[in-house]
Amino acid sequence: MSDKKNPPEFSVLPRHVGFIMDGNGRWAKKKGLPRSEGHKEGAKVFRKIGEYAADLGIEYVTFYAFSTENWKRPEAEVNAIMELFGDYLNEVIERIRENDEKGIRLNFIGDRKGISPELLGLMDYTHKLTEDKSKVTLNIAVNYGGRHEIASAVKEIAKKAAHGEINPDSIDESVISDYLYTAGQPDPDLIIRPSGEYRLSNFLTWQGAYSELWFSDILWPDFTEENFNEALRAYEKRNRRFGGV
Ligand code: IPE
Ligand code: IPE
Ligand code: MG
Repeated sequence: MSDKKNPPEFSVLPRHVGFIMDGNGRWAKKKGLPRSEGHKEGAKVFRKIGEYAADLGIEYVTFYAFSTENWKRPEAEVNAIMELFGDYLNEVIERIRENDEKGIRLNFIGDRKGISPELLGLMDYTHKLTEDKSKVTLNIAVNYGGRHEIASAVKEIAKKAAHGEINPDSIDESVISDYLYTAGQPDPDLIIRPSGEYRLSNFLTWQGAYSELWFSDILWPDFTEENFNEALRAYEKRNRRFGGV
């Protein structure tokens, strides 16, 4: 259906789109497969949609891959997700070696504490390797929680204030934004959540204050470029007022 070489034109394009990649488990269940198969399929869709975002000319995309709350899942499932994440990072490295990269600048948001040293190494390496890529900045949110992010920022700021490095009176919204993982990036204009759940599940809590939301019943492994177009068409028609008239 969608023509990747010639993506459709949109009258307004969000600068930053967030994806809550949800529904992998239910997709697998429907097919009588283990949940890990759903994550595997979901990881393929993540690659496809990330590249499509770059083709569309979207500057920033953030994919919610693993939340601070997802550690509650069975160990085997957590390990399967982390393994898929590692596979993706190794694939990026391989692509760069073969000069077949997609112009994607990789960035990671979330708490590094809890992530294995092997994965941290791969994250740092791919971040460094893709630093000069300019088509799209792709944030992967791993061990990410919006409230945790805000609490960490507050802790950092409080430490500086205690050391006299920050004047408490100078702390405003922009100072807090500067202490988040997304410092320097625009807030998400559009957040897309498939899987029929109508919540943000701790995703970009601060940054999403004025984001447009788009929900769909499609399970993430079934999500297509066409679904992305649909969300973008809906976004075109939104009237963003930011409290004004
Ligand atoms: C999203 O799919 C992936 C992660 C949260 C890591 P789920 O695994 O949450 O899928 P459902 O919601 O159980 O269908
Ligand atoms: C949100 O999905 C987290 C990710 C997609 C990584 P969940 O499946 O964890 O969210 P809840 O539990 O349904 O709110
Ligand atoms: Mg879920």
